[in-house]
Order: sequence, then C-alpha cells, then structure tokens
Amino acid sequence: MNSNLHEWLNLLIRWGHFLAGIMWIGTSLYFVWMDSSFKPLAEPKKGVDGEVWMVHGGNFYHVEKRRFGPGEMPSLLHWFKWEATLTWLTGFMLLIVVYYMTSGAYLVDAQVKNLSPGLASLIGLGVIFGGWIFYDLLLRSPLAKSKWVNVVGLFLTAAIIYFLTHTFSGRGAFIHLGAMFGTMMVLNVWVHILPNQQAIIEASNAGNEPNYDLGKIAKTRSMHNSYMTLPVLFIMISNHFPSTFAHSNNWLVLILIVLMGALVRHVMISAKYWPLAPALACLVALVSMTYVKAARGLPENDSENSKVHFFQINHILQNRCVQCHSRFPTDSVFTVAPGGVVFDTPADIQQWSTRINERAVQQKTMPLANKTQMLDEERILLGKWISQGARVE
Ligand code: HEC
Repeated sequence: MNSNLHEWLNLLIRWGHFLAGIMWIGTSLYFVWMDSSFKPLAEPKKGVDGEVWMVHGGNFYHVEKRRFGPGEMPSLLHWFKWEATLTWLTGFMLLIVVYYMTSGAYLVDAQVKNLSPGLASLIGLGVIFGGWIFYDLLLRSPLAKSKWVNVVGLFLTAAIIYFLTHTFSGRGAFIHLGAMFGTMMVLNVWVHILPNQQAIIEASNAGNEPNYDLGKIAKTRSMHNSYMTLPVLFIMISNHFPSTFAHSNNWLVLILIVLMGALVRHVMISAKYWPLAPALACLVALVSMTYVKAARGLPENDSENSKVHFFQINHILQNRCVQCHSRFPTDSVFTVAPGGVVFDTPADIQQWSTRINERAVQQKTMPLANKTQMLDEERILLGKWISQGARVE
C-alpha cells in the first residue's frame, strides 16, 4: 500500500480507537463511581435503592438506582454498548494495519522465532479468538463455581504471556495480549452482559417479575472486564516503552504489569487498601528489572588514543540505520523515515545522539528487530563516541 495512505489510515484509526476507548472506559469508571456513591433516600421510595446528586457544567443532576417491577420499564432506556464495540473494531483494524500489513516488521523478530509474516498473523489471530473460546468454556464449566478459577485464570494468563513473548517480537507479544483481553471484554459485553440485561427488560415488559439473578451473571463478567482494564490501557501505550517490551525477560515484565494493574483496580473497586502493598512490590521489581546499566565494555583507561572519530560512527549509521532513517529510505516496509528520525547529515546525527544512545546502545531495540544485523562491537563504539561528547567534526 502507498505509504502515505498507510500513514493516514494508521492515524485516523488510532485517533478513533483512542476516542472510543476513552468513552468506553470513561463510562465504565463513571458507573463504578456512581455505584459506590448512592446514598439511601431520606424518605424511602418503592423500587429505589439509593440516590446521588451531581453538579456538572453549571447544571444539577439527580440519579436514582432502581429496580423495575412488571410493566414499569421506561420506553426510552440508554444503553452503553457502542463504546465497547467501536473500541474493539478500531483496535482490530489498527492491529491489521500496523502488525499484519507490514510484512512482519513489527510482529516478527527473527531472534525470537523466524516466522513468516503470514504464519505469525495466523498465530496472532488464533491467540486472540482461541483465548476467548477457552475463557468462556472455563467459566461455563463446573470449575467456575470454585474460587480457584481465578487462580487458574492467572496461571493461564501467565502461560499465554510466556508463549507470546517466545513467539513474537516484544511489542507484537504485548499488543496481542492486549488484543486478546480486549476481545474477551467486548464479547463479555455482547454474549453475556447485554443479553441478560435484555432478558430483564423483556420480563418487565411482558408483565412478569424480572429475574435479577441474571444481573449477577452479567456482574461476574463485568468484574472480569474491570480487572483487565488497567493492563489493557498500559498495553495500548506500551509501544512507547522499549524498556518494557524489549527487556530480555519481557514475559516477566508483562506478568508483573498485569498483576499490578489488577491489584490497583481491586483497590478502586473494593476501597480496600491492602492490595497497594503487593502492587508496590510489583512496581519496585519492575523498576529494578528495567534499570539500564551504563553500557559495558568500555576500557578502564580510555586514553586519547582510543578516541572514536565521527567518520567511524557515520559509517555504522549509514550501514545499519539509513535503510529506514533517511529522507530517502530504501527499506521495503518503511518508505518514510519512522518518527521523522533521519541520519543523513552530521547535524541530523548530532540532534538524535541521545536517542541513538538510548535505542541502539543501551536498550538495543534499534535497528528494529536488528533487521540490518548490527554488531555488538558497533554498539560499543557508538556508546564510546557518545560518552566522548558525540562530536561530529
Ligand atoms: C528496519 C527499519 C529500521 C532500522 C534499520 C532502524 N530503525 Fe530506528 N526506528 C524504526 C521504527 C519503525 C521506529 C519507530 C518505532 C519505535 O520507536 O520503536 C524507529 C524509531 C527510532 C528512533 C526514534 C524513537 C525514539 O526512541 O526516540 C530512533 C532514535 C531510532 N529509531 C534509532 C535507530 C538507529 C540508531 C538505528 C541504527 C543503529 C535504527 N534506528 C535503525 C525502524 C528502523
């Protein structure tokens, strides 16, 4: 596809995904807040469990939480179902545009597993939809009645993470866990939550007493969704943090992040504060794991003799980087310099020296999936040049 068109597709879908996601999570958090804020009425009213008063934008709002008896359902009832659906649809389109239509550039890392782009995409789709089928069957099985089902769920999540990070590039693995969670969340809405709400409405309209137990089933699924929310939100932005997805133990990093997100969410839902302690332990473990040590391999007595000259560095960058990072790239996938980062002139190189250090020397996340086969010696030389002041004359 024309790269300009591809860029615009990416931009528009991402914008839409972001907006839909805010609306989905926003309403979901708003209802969690409201549920915990209802106060009993001064004068009890039939069918009303509580009320809440709010002010926003200069207006006052009064909401009652209530149950409807037979025939009491209002004619116009607002559902909040399209936010979830739109988030999923735009997310799925984005997955195709960024991961499945770029010849494996973001999805495959030959050092992890040398998959063909087509096979990698198939495995990705298999995990996303297979994950849902497995999860749904598990929750319909007798095991679902036991509390252990949550432990089983956690172990299965860890196993999936291990599998993904040992199959795809780091960022591809992270995004596929997010896509799998997102798919579970939206199918929970459509397969369990909405039909149960519908059944309650239909019973009331037919003049029968609604079965509010149906609401409880919807509640379990809705609760699972809420524990997935924070991990999914992190995964959406994880692409910006190579220190996480490109870590040598990225599977452990992701498990800790998922755990931390779920624990923080537990605090938000239950208003109990003890989960903050293990969440903090996860955070401390994460920070210490990803703490990047200064580039090793520099000789102790770095004398003037070993001064690294700019022409050496330029040579490395022209060999390993400008296929993508140039005003005129030659790479088959990246026909426009990613992020506008180019290394064509000495001034370009100097401008980006801090990020070159970060990505190619410290984290070793550039070249992307080491497509141009950069050598460790070259990284060390780059690091040395930077520590000597990154001079381009
Ligand atoms: C195969 C294409 C490709 C090659 C080769 C490549 N990059 Fe990149 N680079 C990318 C892509 C794609 C991005 C944007 C995604 C990202 O940031 O991970 C990027 C982003 C960057 C960024 C900007 C993001 C930031 O963290 O500031 C820097 C700096 C960078 N690359 C440095 C390098 C260096 C240095 C080399 C050579 C040693 C190199 N790249 C080789 C594809 C490539």
